[in-house]
Amino acid sequence: RKRVVVFISGGGSNMLTLARACEAPDWPAEIACVISDKASAGGLAKAAALGIPTRVFERKEFPDKAAHEAAILSALDEIRPDLICLAGYMRLLSADFIRRHEGRILNIHPSLLPLFPGLHTHQRAIDAGMKIAGCSVHVVTEGMDEGPIVAQAAVPVLATDTAETLAARVLTVEHQLYPLALRLVAEGSVRLEDGRAVTTPSAAAELAE
Ligand code: GAR
Repeated sequence: RKRVVVFISGGGSNMLTLARACEAPDWPAEIACVISDKASAGGLAKAAALGIPTRVFERKEFPDKAAHEAAILSALDEIRPDLICLAGYMRLLSADFIRRHEGRILNIHPSLLPLFPGLHTHQRAIDAGMKIAGCSVHVVTEGMDEGPIVAQAAVPVLATDTAETLAARVLTVEHQLYPLALRLVAEGSVRLEDGRAVTTPSAAAELAE
């Protein structure tokens, strides 16, 4: 089983769906640790309740971004994860950090990338008059929300939607997509080739369902 570290900053609902999926027998991944940059993150208690080790690295306890990341990197050196899943981790990783775990970091972003990277993504989708929205799991590279797309799921945008109602609808499909995407990557059904995530035909069929 591939060892996965999940990074969170908040409620951790995506982390929880990953952790629950990993409880299934024959699942190709297990959550080795949950790392948060916020001691107040609600996801920490949820992880602990499942018996998953947690670590907190508050940015304000370090003099600068480099020192903060160095502390996280040394924890990762101990844990030796095969994969890192960002799940509502609201901090940009530096190029140096990403290079240390090149091709091993996944992120979920609540838009149909490459549309609406970054913050306020739901309001921007509504303002643009989008009729569908969704989420993307992608491999993390230096550019924010720019790496190779592994999987996406779509939902309708309703005329009555606010950023909050749209975010809630997108979140329901995030919870389906992220565990599936993690499984496909962990079992080797998705590989990186020439800067693209290439999916086997059977995995592509699963993603299309
Ligand atoms: C999710 O919607 C996730 O896609 C988003 O934050 C939420 C976290 O919820 N991530 C980003 O916006 C990353 N830029 P959760 O803590 O309940 O999983």
